[in-house]
Amino acid sequence: MDTAKIRNFSIIAHIDHGKSTLADRILELTGLLTDRDKKEQYLDRMELEQERGITIKAQAVRIPYTAPDGQEYTLNLIDTPGHVDFSYEVSRSLAACEGALLVVDATQGVEAQTLANVYLALDNDLEVIPVLNKADLPSAEPERVAEEIEEVIGLDASGAVTVSAKTGLNVDQVLQQIVEQLPPPKGSADAPFKALIFDSWYDSYQGVVVLFRIIDGSLKKGDRIRIFSTKRDFEVTKLGVFSPGPKDVKELGPGEVGFLCASMKELGDAPVGDTITKPENPTDTPYPGFQKVKPMVFAGLYPVEPAEYETLKAALEKLQLNDAAFTFEPETSQALGFGFRCGFLGLLHIEIIQERLEREFEARLITTAPSVVYQVRNTDGEELLIDNPSKLPDPQEIEVVREPYVRLEVHVPNDFVGAVLALCEEKRGIQKNINYAGINRVIITYEIPFAEIMYDFFDKLKSSTKGYASLDYEVIDYREADMIKLDILINGDPVDAFSIIVHRENAPRMGRSLALKLKRSIPRQMFEVVIQAAIGRKIVAKERNAPFRKDVTAKCYGGDITRKRKLLEKQKEGKKRMRRMGNVEIPQEAFLAVLKAG
Ligand code: GTP
Repeated sequence: MDTAKIRNFSIIAHIDHGKSTLADRILELTGLLTDRDKKEQYLDRMELEQERGITIKAQAVRIPYTAPDGQEYTLNLIDTPGHVDFSYEVSRSLAACEGALLVVDATQGVEAQTLANVYLALDNDLEVIPVLNKADLPSAEPERVAEEIEEVIGLDASGAVTVSAKTGLNVDQVLQQIVEQLPPPKGSADAPFKALIFDSWYDSYQGVVVLFRIIDGSLKKGDRIRIFSTKRDFEVTKLGVFSPGPKDVKELGPGEVGFLCASMKELGDAPVGDTITKPENPTDTPYPGFQKVKPMVFAGLYPVEPAEYETLKAALEKLQLNDAAFTFEPETSQALGFGFRCGFLGLLHIEIIQERLEREFEARLITTAPSVVYQVRNTDGEELLIDNPSKLPDPQEIEVVREPYVRLEVHVPNDFVGAVLALCEEKRGIQKNINYAGINRVIITYEIPFAEIMYDFFDKLKSSTKGYASLDYEVIDYREADMIKLDILINGDPVDAFSIIVHRENAPRMGRSLALKLKRSIPRQMFEVVIQAAIGRKIVAKERNAPFRKDVTAKCYGGDITRKRKLLEKQKEGKKRMRRMGNVEIPQEAFLAVLKAG
């Protein structure tokens, strides 16, 4: 294919600004989407994605487009995941493009992830075309938002098209801009074969399906390929494009985007960001910046019923086939028995995995509080990575603890600056910058411990800014910190699954708050339940739940039968996710009480 007629582009946006809707409209306008497909947003594949309205897996669609002057073009739309947890995947998808449409909701303006995504696009040398969306809404202010794009991002928005992805208004103009303003791919047909892997997933019939973008050279079915980082060779058994369904093709050349299958058994055979070349004439310049995705946040997953351990293990194995960023290994907790320590990219990733386990695999789980990974040097000079608070050595055996820090960027209207600063200071943040950017918009930058924004930070930020704040963060480095372990004892016995790592200064406050939250989430039992928080041997907080009669319906005076039934049902429901600790029954929510104990 003549590269001059190819345009590879992504759509980037802050969550909910209309990325998926615009993608759909483009597919519809170019005749790729029929009425039947229209029902569901085509680019959001998984059921879960549709419900949450979040795109998790990147995908690529080849779109044939006839420009108004009659010229035929091939547009490849490469979808990107929309959440900060997946920023490496976003970056790799962008690396496969020459340009990006920057969708900004004209009723909202530039938000934290608008900017974060623009930076990723600029890092990848992309041409960025701003698009002002939701023009059909009366509250849309395209002029103001265009001004904001110029002021905050420094992008010329004078030619920005005002569209409605919902009604289709002016979407044809966006297609014309793609052809006119984005550069065609540059590659050479004669150079050694080089392609970038920007997505891969496991398919039970085909094995691993790899989405790639060719930089130089060409590829045919039957060719032997080599994965650059692993030096492993495979034979291409299937070669095709999505348009929008899968279609086989004979050959793909420079600048083209497609998928291949090559009898690969696991995602590690074709890691996202890696380079594909050919063994007979390998390239010596792989795509730069390849990195293996590393889980940043860990939590324990335990079956509610110990007998369901094997079933849970099988489910985790299946999930991992399709999610290279998710890791797990067996662990044993004194309190919870046999389970798994699982690694995730971030909090949203935990939620997604948890939901998939419950929905697709009907697994019943107890999830323990998430923890970041700490670097610890013990008194023997050994360097340890601690991803489970209960494994933190005793204070006298620790020489140094280092914790991960993130650079946090919060966007808020002027009125809420004070509230955001107060929150960040409370969370041990170090202020880096306050930028009054544009009309009534402030960008606040902090360096802050990752652990501090894991618990109640998002909720507090939301409530203290009336929902107006948007944020973005990335892990930057590890720093020394005075961290200690806070233990929880139930009726005198330590419960390892409740242990958390906290800063020494915050430990007493966290202890009190956690004990109180636990008191509230552990139902009263037939006997007294004493909840204590301890640092080493020292008790820093104590709460007690007085005993009470188990028959909760007794309170209803036998009067209202529906209420009685409801209560019983509620009690039954609660049982499903309870674990017995000694003779105390502890519900799932108690294990996550720390998320609310700030
Ligand atoms: P994520 O996938 O979560 O990143 O969101 P997104 O950016 O893909 O947004 P999506 O397309 O799901 O749109 C978010 C919401 O805005 C949906 O309820 C859409 O129906 C609505 N929406 C998108 N474009 C328009 C528009 O032009 N006008 C109006 N009125 N609503 C729109």
